[in-house]
Amino acid sequence: MSGDVLQHTDLRQSRRFLETYSPPKINGEFAGKHIISVEQFDRRDLQILFDATGSIRRRIKQQDRGLLELAAGKLMATLFYEASTRTDLSFQAAMRHLGGEVVAASNGVHFSSVYKGENLADTIRAVGCYSDAIVLRHPDVGSSYEAAYYLDQLNKQIARQVIVISGGDGVGEHPTQALLDLFTIFDFKGQIDGLNITLVGDLRHGRTVHSLAKLIARYQAENVVLNLVSPPLLRMPETVVQYATAKGITVRETDDLYDVLPETDVIYWTRIQEERFDDPADYEAIKDRFIMTPPVLAQAPDDAILMHPLPRKHEMGTPDDHDALDADPRAVYFRQMENGMFVRMALLAKVLGGLWV
Ligand code: NCD
Repeated sequence: MSGDVLQHTDLRQSRRFLETYSPPKINGEFAGKHIISVEQFDRRDLQILFDATGSIRRRIKQQDRGLLELAAGKLMATLFYEASTRTDLSFQAAMRHLGGEVVAASNGVHFSSVYKGENLADTIRAVGCYSDAIVLRHPDVGSSYEAAYYLDQLNKQIARQVIVISGGDGVGEHPTQALLDLFTIFDFKGQIDGLNITLVGDLRHGRTVHSLAKLIARYQAENVVLNLVSPPLLRMPETVVQYATAKGITVRETDDLYDVLPETDVIYWTRIQEERFDDPADYEAIKDRFIMTPPVLAQAPDDAILMHPLPRKHEMGTPDDHDALDADPRAVYFRQMENGMFVRMALLAKVLGGLWV
């Protein structure tokens, strides 16, 4: 497999694009914009996107065939260098529900020219020649910025506007997950102002929590408390903590869940990202530190919601614990997951066509 090739080419250079490439701000205008960071969004952009998402959800439930016009004639490519179920399939489903088409490497990206050692800069431009939007998931932090940079170069040559949407860049960001997470919080809580939100688990390697913490800050809600619960080794990166604090969020870091759980409105549980540890002994030492089970959830308020980006493993207990948690009305992670398709439909319709939905 091409893992070694990736190690020796792309892994070294993507990160520098974080410094040199500025993601375009949305500023109320989504059409033709790459989506590579939550920092592109402000409160108004989120309101526009969430209104569109609500409308799309209603129309899907009514089986409104008019949705098939929204990306008719457009083609989305998926380019996944890392494993995925929800992000990959929800983007594909979203595009099809909008009447668009989807292409992917027939045997997965690792049997494309990536296998021969082609770098991201060239692969992304090859895929750009055949599509209007590329959903990219890649193990390098900054890879989506790098993709955006090279697509800008290509777009000048081919006189089209091909965009990249990040589906996660290693331990960096996962912007569309944060969009669906924030939409879900709105859905169940009606607002962000005044909420007490608790992120638990692998806050160091979890890209979903990096993006979500920053997106909550971008929304500029009032009186938000963000509790960051992790073992010391897995603390949220300081840059993210500073970002949230600078935007007026009260951030509390602790490794004592019970300190904050009884006050919490939104519990966001995460998987310990075993595959991202340099030393397996570190993983073994902390993997069982935070396990959500029915007795743990019993400590949370009755009107709290329990979210999880999924997939879940033992951090949600045994399979029997999974079933018991699923039966608790506070568990909203399957509706969170369904919302992922609606948010991605709204986003695709907007970036591909700038259409009102
Ligand atoms: C997450 C991811 O890939 O970052 N999954 C997802 O996209 N819903 C979370 C994880 O892998 O733990």
